[in-house]
Amino acid sequence: MIGTANGLAVSITGLGAYVPERVVTNDDLSTMMDTSDEWIVERTGIRERRIAGPEEALSDLALPAARQALEDAGLKGSDIDLLIVATVTPDMAFPATAAIIADELGAHDAGAYDLSAGCTGFMYAVAQAYAMLAGGLAQRALVVGGDVLSKIMDWTDRRTAVLFGDGAGAVVMERVGEGGFLGFELGADGSGGPQLYLPGGGSRTPATVESIADGQHFVQMNGREVFKFATRVLVSSAEAVLAECGRTVDEVDVYVPHQANVRIIDYATHKLGIPDDRVVIDVDRYGNTSSGSIPIALADAKADGRLTAGRLVLMTGMGAGLTWGSGLIEWTDGGTT
Ligand code: ACO
Repeated sequence: MIGTANGLAVSITGLGAYVPERVVTNDDLSTMMDTSDEWIVERTGIRERRIAGPEEALSDLALPAARQALEDAGLKGSDIDLLIVATVTPDMAFPATAAIIADELGAHDAGAYDLSAGCTGFMYAVAQAYAMLAGGLAQRALVVGGDVLSKIMDWTDRRTAVLFGDGAGAVVMERVGEGGFLGFELGADGSGGPQLYLPGGGSRTPATVESIADGQHFVQMNGREVFKFATRVLVSSAEAVLAECGRTVDEVDVYVPHQANVRIIDYATHKLGIPDDRVVIDVDRYGNTSSGSIPIALADAKADGRLTAGRLVLMTGMGAGLTWGSGLIEWTDGGTT
């Protein structure tokens, strides 16, 4: 799916992020499994990640991020009429975490639902919110991207456990006078699903004593295949959305790729021809936070003063599905509805 924004101008008018307090370094991991700081840094660029406490669920990370985004936009929870939570680790299978969050925020008039598209979830959710706002179905949207992947990791599997961290980010989206989103490209290749999946817990492999003992309720990944996929789509999706919007890579001021791995980001950045100083990287501090990765990186970029009005910002996510998604936005200062 690809398209340019030809409806009303819609932009991000508020940003927030939250990560758990507990920092787990690579050295900490090396006391739990056969790995080392040297291996993890060389192969991934990750130095540490945040891990949720036993009592912390997704909504506990998402709510502070959402409240920060609302404050940044100068809005209250009751102003929101659309709330989407992109995640693969909701508080529970149902009700949707979005409904839990809407209640906590006082967003009683909001349509609220969860969306599952792996690490690409945030980009899918932002594209949906764009369409609902531009189409006049909603006035003010809150989009949360977040995951608590530590809860679905096999902590004895060094091939996966070292890569991920917990965290959430949130954006408020509103109509604006000009600027804002220029276009989106989203895609999915279900034939690649078994390269990165969690087989247990659904209707195919329900929770049984056997499926739990067999490790079916933990993330399983073919790292090399995911690496090849990720490097390919980071480039192709970015090129596609830029071409569709009539923009060139030289015009991109800030590039926010999904924070999976520094090697994947470096490959894509150089292949696209984006100068290093325009790339946002925080995977060294947070690991791969899945749906949280892009909004957390946006919040980091804003804190660094990199997101100023008029700047062209390119975001691309990719992950389980296998899915991918890009969005191009001309950054704006705030909503004008
Ligand atoms: N510590 C030490 N050694 C390890 C570890 C570890 N944590 N993990 C694997 N190894 C070993 C392997 O067992 C293997 O040993 P062997 O040669 O004796 O068999 C060796 O290191 C090399 O393993 P490879 O899997 O070939 O290592 P590779 O260079 O491919 O790096 C990695 C693995 C980092 C997972 C890489 O494939 C990758 O980054 N893939 C992308 C995965 C990803 O980012 N997924 C995120 C989710 S999807 C998304 O967000 C896009």
